[in-house]
Amino acid sequence: MNIRSFFSTPTQIPPWVKELKVKSPYMKKIRVDDCICHGKLVDHNRIRDRILTEIERDYCTESTAQFPDRVSKLDWTKGHDLTRPWVKIFFPNFDITIKNFIKGLGYNHYVIDAIWYQQYLEGDTHGWHTHGQAYTGVYYLEFPDKSSRTELYSPFNFKKHIIKAKEGDLIMFPSHWIHRGPGNPSKRKTIVSFNFEVHHGSYYGT
Ligand SMILES: [Fe+2]
Repeated sequence: MNIRSFFSTPTQIPPWVKELKVKSPYMKKIRVDDCICHGKLVDHNRIRDRILTEIERDYCTESTAQFPDRVSKLDWTKGHDLTRPWVKIFFPNFDITIKNFIKGLGYNHYVIDAIWYQQYLEGDTHGWHTHGQAYTGVYYLEFPDKSSRTELYSPFNFKKHIIKAKEGDLIMFPSHWIHRGPGNPSKRKTIVSFNFEVHHGSYYGT
């Protein structure tokens, strides 16, 4: 497999989408609106370099090399450990940001399941996949110009959404939405990914 095959063009339609665009004989889809939430991490500029320094220090032997994926550095298997040095810097700002996001969706409480970083070097890619929990998201910690952009498909109509993120942005979206990080054509890109549940109701307070 040539490294160039990791790269993609935004106009390509994956084979699995072509198949699913055929109307299902077993059900009809009733349209309800859903959304991708897009904003900024509180005080990104103040903590960016500190987080990156801790990630540099992180001695991590993990990497994904399962065809067709390749992510050079990540700490996914430690995702439940909130005592990692970079997470201690990140989490207070994440907490404020996510609370503001979910408030706008009608929820009053969230429970984090996992947080992990992924560092993409040139040619690295993360293919089509889904996550567990109710919501997942991406914080664009280090995102040089021309970095590959997150792509998502709506399960209602398989319309592709390409996230026009800038460094410091944070997005969240339903975990079952199929998405990917296409081949990274540029300098190193570092993102933070996370999964969490949300709740509505007086049991969880306000
Ligand atoms: Fe993902």
